[in-house]
Amino acid sequence: MLTHEQIERSNFWMIFLIAIVVAVGGIVEIVPLFFQESLTKPVNDKVKPYDALRLAGRDIYIREGCYNCHSQMIRPFRAETERYGHYSVAGEYVYDHPFQWGSKRTGPDLHRVGGRYSDQWHRIHLLNPRDVVPESNMPAYPWLDRPLKDPHIQAKMRALRAVGVPYTDQEINEAPKMLEGKTELEALIAYLQGLGGALKQSR
Ligand code: HEC
Repeated sequence: MLTHEQIERSNFWMIFLIAIVVAVGGIVEIVPLFFQESLTKPVNDKVKPYDALRLAGRDIYIREGCYNCHSQMIRPFRAETERYGHYSVAGEYVYDHPFQWGSKRTGPDLHRVGGRYSDQWHRIHLLNPRDVVPESNMPAYPWLDRPLKDPHIQAKMRALRAVGVPYTDQEINEAPKMLEGKTELEALIAYLQGLGGALKQSR
């Protein structure tokens, strides 16, 4: 039997036993999360998979790096809920692969921005933020007003279906038609307007 002293004097036993303890601790904390319904199921039936246009908009959000300045995760603190609305819960992100929590707030949190402004406000704001918020330091995205091209939309939807997003064949078949004649700006705005509606509270 190894004594405490022998373990502490041996690099091998020390590393080996620490690895086992950390692994057991990790398994005990992480594995139950996969079976907890509040984390793996939509919080209510307002949480729907992104339709094709919003999905394309979400990819533009990622491409343009909006997450570098905007979080999508409202913490359960008074100061946050007063400003942004109901705090975020895990069951709102079940169709997000990957989620866009972000880690920096140069701009405000966007998790409940859907419906807060008109489409026209977003349009002006994205093309030049200073036109509606004079003191804004958000960059302008004038190039977004161009035709949306997303030739891989069906493949993306099929890939998401493989990881559990319940798209129907019909939704996938009709996806290219939904994107026809749209601009990148329209797709991004559709995505923003759909954010956070599941747990909206009157403010
Ligand atoms: C360099 C940091 C930065 C980047 C990158 C950025 N933003 Fe912003 N954003 C801000 C700041 C600061 C504000 C607050 C001032 C304003 O409203 O313009 C803001 C405000 C907003 C608002 C209004 C939120 C509210 O509740 O009033 C929206 C919507 C928004 N940004 C969307 C986007 C989108 C979409 C992108 C990517 C295309 C993006 N932002 C990229 C900094 C940024």
